[in-house]
Amino acid sequence: MNKTGTQRLETERLILRPFVPADAEDMYRNWASDPEVTKFLTWPTHRSVDISRMVLSDWVPQYGDGGYFNWAMESRENGQVIGNIAVVKLREDTAAADMGYCMGRAYWGKGLMPEALKAVMAYLFGTVGLNRVAACHDANNPKSGRVMEKAGMKPEGVLRQAGKNNQGLCDEVWHAALRDEWEKEGVAL
Ligand SMILES: CC(C)(COP(=O)(O)OP(=O)(O)OC[C@H]1O[C@@H](n2cnc3c(N)ncnc32)[C@H](O)[C@@H]1OP(=O)(O)O)[C@@H](O)C(=O)NCCC(=O)NCCS
Repeated sequence: MNKTGTQRLETERLILRPFVPADAEDMYRNWASDPEVTKFLTWPTHRSVDISRMVLSDWVPQYGDGGYFNWAMESRENGQVIGNIAVVKLREDTAAADMGYCMGRAYWGKGLMPEALKAVMAYLFGTVGLNRVAACHDANNPKSGRVMEKAGMKPEGVLRQAGKNNQGLCDEVWHAALRDEWEKEGVAL
């Protein structure tokens, strides 16, 4: 595994880059303050921009660690940071990552998260050299499962009441892609 960290990635409509402290306002306004966005997430909705500032003051120093992968999603259209895509768990022994992502409601339904996830997976498989990239969603949040499928992950199964989020205990629906399979299938970026 190559610990190359959160490098800048570009897609048709997005710039994926490390967060900077000045992103706090966009983070708060565009997604972290919205209970509809955090409905199926594990962290509480931010009650003020100070909470977003605090979160970023925890994240930003971690970019010095090449095993830290956490991208701000910047819209090319308006220059705002509209969401976040990150490795939430990394296993070096199996070269495997679990992903998490969220984005402001105004940007839903345009295929932006699949676009981001595909670019991040290409980087994690191609540059970092991971073997497996996985993600799970609450069974009551199937639109996240669509993101996984569009990015080329395959369904693996359901872990009953294995997760806990802002709705309480939840069934986790898992998807994953393996490097060989994903590269062979040639997911269009
Ligand atoms: C889940 C999420 C990342 C989807 O990203 P996205 O860029 O909107 O993804 P897509 O545009 O590919 O849409 C995915 C599905 O969302 C649903 N959807 C589309 N437009 C929608 C809208 N305006 N409002 C709600 N859902 C919508 C559809 O079911 C769609 O699937 P389809 O393309 O087969 O019709 C985004 O909704 C989000 O950030 N949600 C809140 C945080 C979250 O749940 N994160 C995942 C935790 S596991």
